[in-house]
Amino acid sequence: MNFKEQLKEYQTKVNQELEKYLKKQECPEKILNHAMEYSLMGGGKRLRPILVMVTYQIFKDDVQKCMPYAVAIEMIHNFSLIHDDLPGIDNDDVRHGKPTNHKKFNEATAILAGDGLFNQAYMVMSEDLKHTKLEELSEKLEVFSEFSNAVDRMIAGEYMDTEYEGKPITEEYLTYIHKNKTAALLRLCVRMGAILAKATQEDLEKLTRYAEKIGLAFQIKDDILSEEGQEEILGKPVGNDKELEKCTYVSQYGLQGAKEILEKITKEAIEELKEYGEKAEFLKELAYYIQNRNK
Ligand code: IPE
Ligand code: IPE
Ligand code: MG
Ligand code: MG
Repeated sequence: MNFKEQLKEYQTKVNQELEKYLKKQECPEKILNHAMEYSLMGGGKRLRPILVMVTYQIFKDDVQKCMPYAVAIEMIHNFSLIHDDLPGIDNDDVRHGKPTNHKKFNEATAILAGDGLFNQAYMVMSEDLKHTKLEELSEKLEVFSEFSNAVDRMIAGEYMDTEYEGKPITEEYLTYIHKNKTAALLRLCVRMGAILAKATQEDLEKLTRYAEKIGLAFQIKDDILSEEGQEEILGKPVGNDKELEKCTYVSQYGLQGAKEILEKITKEAIEELKEYGEKAEFLKELAYYIQNRNK
């Protein structure tokens, strides 16, 4: 199987797993449940849960064990996207080639659908914790704590991102925004996979360095796509960063400069995987995918 086929297989697995958590019952708030499902099942690439699974599989085969955490991070990610698109933040009308949540439903529903997904992530994890044997509890609690810390960082990054619109920024603060709003969750995914698989401290540190690099690379590529992507493929607006005078790697270093930094960081990320050989082939391909993606 080549990388593209493998990626598709992982995406299918994640979608099947997410389906289990959709609220289908007849109830007075069923439109809220539709709004949550609309975004959660709206066509994301599923890179975060895939990172959890693939990292876990470097060490262990029973991938089902990490699925609650893979699902939970995708819920948080979709909460972050719904709120990111709101008029008070990025004010975007299109995501995944469809109206954003607040455009499809309304602002109040979108805010609450985001809140609902945020909380559902914690429900999924606490349900798993409840059924965890005592000897596996310490890794799970470690993951739970890292999870909430990473979400805290993502929110901080989103705050800084909006606060600095139209303002001059230092290189240090720009990187701070990107590391927090985007890289923190991607870093978490790799760490969750490794911790749940009981990786050694040395492996955890190496994989964390890989994750921090692809996390930053991911947002730099997002900045590049906001400048020169194709809206029909991207499924979200192009030119929106410029319109809002966002501080991005493109506004700071120019398009060419951003691409050079992206290439350098991607190479560095792959370097971190050297000693894993075949076992980390997918993670390596994923780094190239992040660098070269057009959506
Ligand atoms: C978009 O993330 C938001 C950023 C952190 C840049 P993705 O591009 O991973 O979103 P989907 O879920 O695949 O649409
Ligand atoms: C998204 O940042 C980061 C989070 C949602 C946490 P952006 O605003 O740059 O991402 P897109 O381009 O809207 O997906
Ligand atoms: Mg934003
Ligand atoms: Mg945005």
